[in-house]
Amino acid sequence: MAYSDKVLDHYNAPRNVGSFDKADPHVGTGVVGAPECGDVMKLQIKVNAEGVIEDAKFKTFGCGSAIASSSLATEWLKGKSLDEAGDIKNTEIVKELSLPPVKVHCSVLAEDAIKAALKDYKSKSETESPLAATPS
Ligand code: FES
Ligand code: FES
Repeated sequence: MAYSDKVLDHYNAPRNVGSFDKADPHVGTGVVGAPECGDVMKLQIKVNAEGVIEDAKFKTFGCGSAIASSSLATEWLKGKSLDEAGDIKNTEIVKELSLPPVKVHCSVLAEDAIKAALKDYKSKSETESPLAATPS
């Protein structure tokens, strides 16, 4: 199957590959797998004090479309609020990368990884809230 130029570009020069310390309270981590093919994607966000995603990283063990989808997702995440990040849709990734129908699930993996990372970050920030921990 022919990959689009944009997929090849991200595949050949993936943006933001790497990881942050999972234990960092400012970091949210999402790890998801695709039942269709067994590929695994890890996506992490780093959130600043204003609630803005200042950095994002990924590691994907998978096909070119999955790598391109996660690479693109990390680019889109930077500078977004948590709510804006939650609005990123796999269909936007499909459109941007011109993914064919059999590769749509690769973009779903990226959307799921974003949602999982947001959820992880939110659950951490709730338990770590200084207000909740201070006895009155
Ligand atoms: Fe996932 Fe090809 S099926 S890498
Ligand atoms: Fe399964 Fe791309 S993630 S083929």
